[in-house]
Amino acid sequence: MSSVTIRVPATTANLGPGFDAFGCALSLYTDVTFEETDAGLEITGCDEAYTGPDNMAYTAFCAVLASLSEEVRGVKIHIESQIPICRGLGSSAALLVAGAMGANLLRGNKLSTQGLLNITNAMEGHPDNLAPAFYGGLTASMVDNGLPVTVNFPLHPDWEFLALVPDFNLPTPLARSVLPTEIPRSDAVYNIAHGAMVLKALELGDEKLLRNAMQDRLHQGYRKKLIPDFDAIQALIRTTGAAFCLSGAGPTLLCITQDPGLEEKLTEKLPKITTAHWDILPLHIEFQGAHRV
Ligand code: HSE
Repeated sequence: MSSVTIRVPATTANLGPGFDAFGCALSLYTDVTFEETDAGLEITGCDEAYTGPDNMAYTAFCAVLASLSEEVRGVKIHIESQIPICRGLGSSAALLVAGAMGANLLRGNKLSTQGLLNITNAMEGHPDNLAPAFYGGLTASMVDNGLPVTVNFPLHPDWEFLALVPDFNLPTPLARSVLPTEIPRSDAVYNIAHGAMVLKALELGDEKLLRNAMQDRLHQGYRKKLIPDFDAIQALIRTTGAAFCLSGAGPTLLCITQDPGLEEKLTEKLPKITTAHWDILPLHIEFQGAHRV
């Protein structure tokens, strides 16, 4: 085999209190094709700024070959992505996952998904986007002795997800730089309790429980100053009864609801209270993780 295309879903990490641990795969996709050649590296389908050897699909591709003690040959990489870049919907994780899976498939499929998760987690530093990108669905992950351990959780079929995606981006390193390195014990307890309730509410389809549980004291309060309109949008969503959180490190905001009319309400009301332009993307959970197409 000299060519392979990998499809990876978008992901939303944290889900409020599950900072660096919870994640969910969503119905936007990145397709990456890898074709081995004898002519160096060529990357197409993305902005010129991402066509060098630091492209994440390529770095993960090389990391997997290194772990297999295999030589890196030339490779053509073509990226077709629906996932908005630097918006908190897992665009970087999708490239890492595609690169890892592409290299593994091209060289005999010797590593397990867990092995690929180990390699990419060492690159990314946290598994919350990577795990649902690999496995699909709703996941929680922990890192134990340096290695990620992931479990899937059940999810009620009635949930609808609306991603509110602004016309500005927020680099994850900046969004992490504003977080404190230490937090009060009361905030840690708050997030542990709320996190457990979020998983149960998502399983049961209990909108009131989810709305109350989907609150956080580890990151959202520190990050909201980087996101114009955060408070106004949060106040608006609270009036609708939907659950609300920052998607990953932001700036995308996520509403989880069972109200099919929420998109229409937000389409009418959002422009009246915001300064930036926010696209409203209706999404559903993607239960299929990264795979060859
Ligand atoms: N858990 C990560 C964060 C997700 O919130 O910073 C972004 O990679």
